[in-house]
This record gives sequence, C-alpha cells and structure tokens, in this order.
Amino acid sequence: MSGCQIVLVGGARPNFMKLAPVIRALAQLDGVSSRLVHTGQHYDEGMSDVFFEQLGLPAPDAYLSVGSGPHGAQTGRVMIAFEEYLQSRPEPSGVVVVGDVNSTAACALTAVKMGIPVAHVEAGLRSFDRTMPEEINRLVTDAVSDVLFVSEPSGEENLRREGIPRERVRYVGNVMIDTLIHELDAARSMNVTAQFDLQRGAFALVTLHRPSNVDHVDHLRPIVDFLIDLAHLSTVVLPLHPRTRARLAEFRLLEALERSGVRPMPPIGYREMLGLMEAARVIITDSGGIQEEATYLNVPCLTLRENTERPATMTHGTNTLVGRDLSVARQALELIARGEYKRARPIAGWDGRAAERIAKSLSDAWRR
Ligand code: UD1
Repeated sequence: MSGCQIVLVGGARPNFMKLAPVIRALAQLDGVSSRLVHTGQHYDEGMSDVFFEQLGLPAPDAYLSVGSGPHGAQTGRVMIAFEEYLQSRPEPSGVVVVGDVNSTAACALTAVKMGIPVAHVEAGLRSFDRTMPEEINRLVTDAVSDVLFVSEPSGEENLRREGIPRERVRYVGNVMIDTLIHELDAARSMNVTAQFDLQRGAFALVTLHRPSNVDHVDHLRPIVDFLIDLAHLSTVVLPLHPRTRARLAEFRLLEALERSGVRPMPPIGYREMLGLMEAARVIITDSGGIQEEATYLNVPCLTLRENTERPATMTHGTNTLVGRDLSVARQALELIARGEYKRARPIAGWDGRAAERIAKSLSDAWRR
C-alpha cells in the first residue's frame, strides 16, 4: 500500500487533548490517513466522551473497552486487545502514542514487537521517581519508540543521558499548548465563571488525583485541612477525579470539605477547565499537564508533588513545587496576594504549531 497510514492511540483523559491537534494536522497532508484507537482506560462520560465532543476528535476506529484494574491487568488487557486490533487491519505505516499513561506504554510495546514503527509524543520527560507509574511508562515507551517528539528542553537532555540516538529525537514543542491556543476563544465565550457563580481572579482552582496524594488518609487529610483553611480566605473549586471522590468518601473527608465552603464538583469538560484555569487567582494541582497550561496562561500554580517531570514550568513558568510541606504553599499564597509571585516567560515550541511539526516529520519518515 502506498502513502502513509497512521494509527493513533488514546486511552485516558490527558491523552485526548494531545491527540486532537495531531489528528487535525495529519488531515492537512496529502496521502496521509489516520485512524484513532481508544483503549477505554477511561470510560466515564465525564472522563472521555466530553473531550471527544469538545475537541472535535473523530469517532474511534476501535474501542478496546479495557476499563480499570491493577496496573499489570490493565496494561496486559490493553496489549492483548491492541495486538488483536492491529492483526485485524492492514498493517499501518506507524503507531503514534502520547503522554505517559498505561495505555501509552502498552501500545508502544505491542506495536514495536509486531515490527511496526512507533512515535512517542511528549517524550523525554522524567520525574526521576520510579514510584510513579507514569515514570515507568515514560521510560518503557521512550526505550522502544523509533521517533521521540520532545515538548520541553529537559526532554532532549534526558534522552541524551539515557543514550537514545540523536537521530530518533525531535524537539517539536508542546501539543497540549496547541490545543489550549485552539480552544481558548471557545472557552472564553462559554463564560464559565458566571456558570459556576465565580468572580474572575477571586478563586482557587484545585485538582487532585495522584495515588500518592489521595490513596493514603495520612497524605490526604493534611491537604483537605489546607483546603479548608484556604476556603476561609477565598472561594475554592474542586472538580473531582472519580478516584479522589471515592477516597474522600471512604476516609469520611468529603462532608468536612463541603461544610467548609470548598466546592467539590464532578469532573468537568476541557473548555470548562480552560475557562476556570485562565480566570483563577491560583491553581493548586498534582496533575502534570495543568502545570504546563498554568504556565502558558501565566496563572500561579502550586503543585502538590515532590518532583515534576516538567521542569520548564518552574524555570520559565509559574509553577512552585510544594511537596508535602504545605507551608511552602502558604508562603506562595502570600506572594500571590501581594502581587509579587513570579511570572512566566516563553518556552520554545509552545506556540500552537507543535502538531504541524509532528505531522510533517511523520509523513517524511513513514511515507512509503
Ligand atoms: C490515569 C493515568 C494518569 C493520569 C490520569 C488522568 C496511568 C498509570 N495513570 O490515572 O497518569 O494523570 O489517568 O486522569 O495510566 N475511574 C472511573 N471512571 C473512569 C476512569 C477511571 O471511575 O472513566 C476510576 C476507577 O475506579 C479506577 C480509577 O478511577 O480504578 C483510576 O483509573 P486509572 O485509569 O487506573 O488511573 P487514573 O488514576 O485515572
């Protein structure tokens, strides 16, 4: 078969915003076709469907329905189902995986063992913390991928240190920022702050879902106490990942949060989140991607983690690592209140055109 047929894989919420601009950019190129596979790692309407609708993603060619489970079981189910999928179709020119979720590593490994070239979007990020499942997924995916698309300067350095040949590595910039730029006007026109009865610049937006923060009551309780204190000073909104809602309920912390005025809510769509992020006074999070979005939007971001795989958000951006020492967060909040908090500087390739560079590179590499 001539031309270039590309299979792209997504499985979990943070994948979908990375895929949308790449699929759009591939569609602009003659002789290139693409198919999307959804592994079904995330399956709730609020964790998946809403992103397809808002980001204009095409209906998946296949939905693998792997669902939730322990890491080994989930990763294994993705591998089995993705192998069957690839065997059931004409062989593609290559497979594109994005980010660092279990579906990313599982599909990269499956494709490469079938002799199909793999490209990894958002390669080279390292937290150097192997207790994070995402770090293992990043290491595995980068080790087996043929083309590594890097989003921030540290990525090139990390891959060089790991001995990945230079010719596999391409600095293209950040596809999540492509999506942010593409959706910003639509998000603004939704007037999300009014919908949620919030004042621009006068609320804290909080997201929490890392197992290390939410799965242990000894870790989650101090965070909840901190948010309750913060709610005395400012409105606090908390869109809840299903895992976090379940743990808050299990540890009987949800009621105390609600009583204090913190506003827990179900997961929200991409545009709603973007509308809240750009209007927030401060973002408090343990997400990877939100650190980058906050940096681009120049909104202060306090990250409830000991490390970040996205150091440019600290050196160039608005991010401060808080770890478990919530006094660091309190000090940062004082700087923010006084208008003395650091501001963001531009980062190479965070310009809305990363996906164009990826599409061109793939079409050059994989066209037959
Ligand atoms: C996954 C990613 C993480 C990413 C996060 C974004 C891995 C290792 N982790 O973590 O990097 O930041 O997605 O959300 O891949 N659940 C639902 N409905 C859903 C999906 C999940 O209720 O649609 C619940 C299930 O109880 C499940 C739990 O959430 O056990 C965790 O889901 P899972 O996909 O295992 O990992 P996440 O914590 O979402």
